[in-house]
Amino acid sequence: MIDIFYTYDPTTSDDFIRMILSRYYNIPKPVICKSFNGKPFIEGRKIHFNLTHSKQITALAVGKKRVGFDCESLTGKARPAVLNKFTDREKSEILSVADFYAHWTARESYIKFYGETLANLWRKVEFYRGNIYLRGELTDARITQFEMDNYVFSICGDYSKFNLRKV
Ligand SMILES: CC(C)(COP(=O)(O)OP(=O)(O)OC[C@H]1O[C@@H](n2cnc3c(N)ncnc32)[C@H](O)[C@@H]1OP(=O)(O)O)[C@@H](O)C(=O)NCCC(=O)NCCS
Repeated sequence: MIDIFYTYDPTTSDDFIRMILSRYYNIPKPVICKSFNGKPFIEGRKIHFNLTHSKQITALAVGKKRVGFDCESLTGKARPAVLNKFTDREKSEILSVADFYAHWTARESYIKFYGETLANLWRKVEFYRGNIYLRGELTDARITQFEMDNYVFSICGDYSKFNLRKV
């Protein structure tokens, strides 16, 4: 099970992480460290989390195993410049704006799972029939997706269930 906390209130990423970890995980005054590519973590704690924001929403996934988390608003249009970078078989299953952002967030959640960068991995990753391919090879990455309030979310990680909580 992974917990998803979200808010529409204005906040900064690090403030939101600190608030959730101190309020719900009993980590008083958490000190946020950043990996080389900027993925936040807490030193010495067996807690994994990843934050995403889009338009008004800020959302944080927190669990006991590594996680990558991404969301996008569904109010926008599919971006042709990005769509062109999807592979032919991905394009064949992108039939709507929701499909487009489902693919986008799946790819990004995989990249964020590894704390990688879009610049390094975007062109090497593919999301097809619910699976992630890296350099054309099927990976065992697990992607869980859901829609809420006109946003689409992708969770990359070994989680079968999620729990949503508005804060
Ligand atoms: C993180 C990244 C993969 C996706 O970003 P995005 O889809 O625009 O943004 P999201 O809202 O989903 O996620 C951003 C949050 O993820 C976290 N994060 C930052 N870098 C991360 C990484 N490499 N892996 C996982 N999570 C990361 C942070 O909490 C960040 O919030 P903040 O930027 O407000 O501090 C992308 O920004 C990236 O490639 N970053 C690497 C460093 C870089 O290239 N920076 C220049 C960006 S122009």
